[in-house]
Amino acid sequence: MKAIRIHGRGGPDHLVYEDAPQPHPGPGEVLVRVYAAGVIATELQWDETYQTNAGSLRPLPIPGPDLSGVVEEIGSGITALARGDEVYAMLGYGRDGAEAEFTIALPSELAPKPRTLDFVRAAAVPLTALTAWQALFVHARLAAGQTILIHGAAGGVGVFAVQLARWVGAHVIATASARNRDFLRELGASAVIDYTTTRFEEIVHDVDLVFDLVGGDTLVRSWQVVKPGGVLVSVVSPRPSFAKAKAHGVRPVWFIVEPNREQLIQIGALIDAGQIRPIIDTVLPLSQARQAYEQGARGHTRGKIVLRVVD
Ligand SMILES: NC(=O)c1ccc[n+]([C@@H]2O[C@H](COP(=O)([O-])OP(=O)(O)OC[C@H]3O[C@@H](n4cnc5c(N)ncnc54)[C@H](OP(=O)(O)O)[C@@H]3O)[C@@H](O)[C@H]2O)c1
Repeated sequence: MKAIRIHGRGGPDHLVYEDAPQPHPGPGEVLVRVYAAGVIATELQWDETYQTNAGSLRPLPIPGPDLSGVVEEIGSGITALARGDEVYAMLGYGRDGAEAEFTIALPSELAPKPRTLDFVRAAAVPLTALTAWQALFVHARLAAGQTILIHGAAGGVGVFAVQLARWVGAHVIATASARNRDFLRELGASAVIDYTTTRFEEIVHDVDLVFDLVGGDTLVRSWQVVKPGGVLVSVVSPRPSFAKAKAHGVRPVWFIVEPNREQLIQIGALIDAGQIRPIIDTVLPLSQARQAYEQGARGHTRGKIVLRVVD
C-alpha cells in the first residue's frame, strides 16, 4: 500500500511517500481503509509519535492519528463492527497512524462517521474535537453562564473549543489575529481580541477558565485573568507552573488527549444536529503530506488541514 513514513526525527523533510507493508488485523483489531486523514502539525515533535510499547524508537512509523474511512476486515472476537461500516477515529499513541491506504484501529477508538459529513470533513474532527471536549467538560467542567478565554481559538482545537463552549452556554472570549475576528464571532465567540495589537490581560479579568492553545508568554500572562478558584487548562508544553497556580489560587490542568469512542459518538451527534461543525483550511492528496506539515508548522491554520487518501 502507499503510505507516508517518518524516516527520522525532525520536521516534514523526514516524511516520505512510499510503499509500505499492508497491515493485517490481529484478534480484537480492525483493518480500516482510510479515506482521509487529519494533519496534526506538531505531531512530528511528540515523543509519543516514535515510541513502541517496548520504549525503543520505531524506525519507520506512519504518522496521523486522525482518520475517516471504511471497515475493511475484522479481527477475531469483534462483534460490534462489520465490513463496510463508515467510521472515524483518533488512533492511540505508539502505533502506526492513518496517513496510508490502510491502518489498524481498535474498536474502542472507532465511532460511526457523522452521517452529515463527507469523509474529508469527518477526518477534520477526532483529535481536535476530543481535545476540546476533554479540556472543557472532563478536566474543567465548564458550565452554562461561566466565562472562558480561549487562546489560539482559530486553530484546529480552538474552533471546536469555541463551538462547544458556546453550545454549553458559556460566554466565550477568543484570541486570534484580526483576519479571524468575524469568523470566530460567527462560530460563537462574543469577543475576539487581536493578539497582534492588544494585550488580553489589559481588558480581560475574572474569567472562570482559560484554555491555552498557544503557551509561552501567553500562558504566563494568563494567570492574572483567572478568578480565584478558577481553572487554567493548557495542552501546550511546557506544563503550567504549579507555583504560579498556587500564587493565583487557580487550578492548573495539563493533559494529553486520549482516544474515546463514546465522546466521538456524542461529538458526532452534535455535528449531525447542526450544533457544531468542522472547519477545513486546506485539503491535499496523501502524496503531499510534506507540504501539509510545512503549512501547518507556520502556525496560522484556520481549523484543519486534511489529507485526501481516496478520491
Ligand atoms: N496535549 C494534547 O493532547 C494536545 C492536543 C491537541 C493539540 N495540542 C497542542 O495545542 C496547540 C494548538 O493545536 P492546534 O492544532 O489547535 O494548532 P493550530 O491549528 O496550528 O493553531 C493555529 C492557530 O493558532 C493561532 N495563533 C497563533 N499564534 C497565536 C497567538 N499568539 N495567540 C492567539 N492565537 C494564535 C492562529 O491564529 P492566527 O492565524 O489568527 O494567528 C491559528 O489559527 C499545539 O501546540 C498542539 O501541539 C496538544
